[in-house]
Amino acid sequence: MCDLAQRLAAFPRLDIIGPPTPLEHLPRLSSFLARDIFIKRDDLTPLGLGGNKLRKLEFLAADALRQGADTLLTAGAIQSNHVRQTAALAAKLGLHCVALLENPTGTDDGNYLTNGNRLLLDLFQCEVILCEALTQPVQQLADAALRLEAQGFRPYVVPVGGSNALGSLGYAGCALEIAHQCQGVIQPAAVVVPSGSGGTHAGLAVGLSAVLPETALVGVTVSRRAEQQRPLIAGLIAQASERLSQAPPVADISLWDEYYAPGYGVANDEGREAIALLARLEGIVLDPVYTGKAMAGLIDGLDRGRFPDGPLVFVHTGGAPALFAYHHLETR
Ligand SMILES: Cc1ncc(COP(=O)(O)O)c(C=O)c1O
Repeated sequence: MCDLAQRLAAFPRLDIIGPPTPLEHLPRLSSFLARDIFIKRDDLTPLGLGGNKLRKLEFLAADALRQGADTLLTAGAIQSNHVRQTAALAAKLGLHCVALLENPTGTDDGNYLTNGNRLLLDLFQCEVILCEALTQPVQQLADAALRLEAQGFRPYVVPVGGSNALGSLGYAGCALEIAHQCQGVIQPAAVVVPSGSGGTHAGLAVGLSAVLPETALVGVTVSRRAEQQRPLIAGLIAQASERLSQAPPVADISLWDEYYAPGYGVANDEGREAIALLARLEGIVLDPVYTGKAMAGLIDGLDRGRFPDGPLVFVHTGGAPALFAYHHLETR
């Protein structure tokens, strides 16, 4: 355990999050599902309504400041939680923030276009540039960076979702936290997490392999099918392991992709039911794009006997502000 902590400590990191986020037992959900379920409350990270991206941004923003940047430049969906957290951190650090935003579902719903995360971007004074589509985000961000430089800014490009090797280290750190919190309390059989741009999943894979090697890790896809997601996760795992000078994990990458249809950013019935269940039984708020679908995977996975015996840890990655953009879809 100390070894991974020491390796992580070698990287500059802004301490934005402070003490570990809680790892809580969910007694009523556990009794409902006949399995002990714990939840890692990364929805409670303390800036701009919280979420998983702050763990990545602790490393990425430290790098930006080290490079003398005055602007954080990133991209995502209009309702991106990542962009919202990047904008909040930029505000806190006194940096300019510019975001390229796309409308991935093409909806013209007023709440999607103006409420939830999008409303918060205005509060954080993020400069929004609407794009037709983020088909080549790396190139589109590089082009935007050149335009900003020509205007005299010093932009730092935060990749979509904060998911590169450096950002993923944040979730290797989260694995360490989970291991500390489980010590002497539980031996988790599996950790369940939404798998989107991939840094959260990859970082957990790297971290858990070092500190909880017996624990399975299940990524529930939210953006693309497993066959496209697998190389993305494998690449991030390899790069993050290399950064840490650590051997990459040997475990297979476990991806469940039965729970995100009809597609990224579109709510489904299973996700809505999971949101309603957690709200009703535990007073915990999930979201329609990521955590509702991942929780639907956990519930169905239990039903179908897909997990090894033992307690499960669900990583709550945040996203609740998007509920206010999707409220026309009604949670039952
Ligand atoms: C609430 C929430 N959960 C999960 C994810 C997925 O994390 P990652 O992009 O690291 O796969 C995101 C990404 O935007 C998110 O906003």
